[in-house]
Amino acid sequence: MTVHFIGAGPGAADLITVRGRTLIEQCPVCLYAGSLIPQALLGWCPPGARIVDTAPLDLDAIIAEIAAAHDAGQDVARLHSGDLSIWSAVGEQMRRLDALAIPYSVTPGVPAFSAAAALLRRELTLPEVAQSVVLTRTSGRASSMPPTETLPAFAATGATLAIHLSIHVIDQVVAELTPFYGADCPVAVVFRASWPDERLLEGTLADIAEAVAAAKLERTALILVGPALGASDFRESALYSRDYDRRFRPRGGDEGPDA
Ligand SMILES: C[S@@+](CC[C@H](N)C(=O)[O-])C[C@H]1O[C@@H](n2cnc3c(N)ncnc32)[C@H](O)[C@@H]1O
Repeated sequence: MTVHFIGAGPGAADLITVRGRTLIEQCPVCLYAGSLIPQALLGWCPPGARIVDTAPLDLDAIIAEIAAAHDAGQDVARLHSGDLSIWSAVGEQMRRLDALAIPYSVTPGVPAFSAAAALLRRELTLPEVAQSVVLTRTSGRASSMPPTETLPAFAATGATLAIHLSIHVIDQVVAELTPFYGADCPVAVVFRASWPDERLLEGTLADIAEAVAAAKLERTALILVGPALGASDFRESALYSRDYDRRFRPRGGDEGPDA
């Protein structure tokens, strides 16, 4: 018996991996994390599967479901939205399963920030404009932020920021970022990327809060901030330049460290 933790992707049912879907088809028990998992994915469960929405359950109750499946020798598909490596609460579940000696596997998923960038049709890292993406959030009821992980600290780098779980404090986000990026810095707010009701608001730090208030977006939205979102005159990547010497397209001589 194995618990398969599966990143279910950002919303569209066809953005789950082939591996994730195959595991859902094979598991007689499916635990899924509430409204961010599309119902269409649950249609891949085998006939007669036990399908449980874990949104109303606490950790003890979730582990009890898994332990019962373990005792019955039944594999479990455990679905979380996006990818499991960020804000999925999978760490505490894996720690409990380790303690109970219940085996598990982890299957990655498409994270929401990737789906948001795809909707925008933007690359978040551009040569000499931004070469880092910071995946972050602001403090919430369930989790406070470590004291050094502040928006101003990340903003000081000038990187592209992908700010999760924070649409309800857009005014605060704007106030903290404007001194670093400037009021004319491009911002995109993506609501429910890849769902049928997805929405995209584009603006600047000067006007995005007003647009969010007018659109009444309150949850499941990502705030992307940084100059890469608006740049069009960036340098082309050296990787594909005619003069660039690399392993699979050598021009002779030593290979560079980045080949
Ligand atoms: C608990 S976190 C889960 C993140 C997820 N594990 C991932 O890989 O993207 C939920 C937050 O992710 C963002 N999010 C999740 N799905 C989204 C989507 N389809 N469109 C926009 N933002 C989304 C929102 O900021 C939301 O508040």
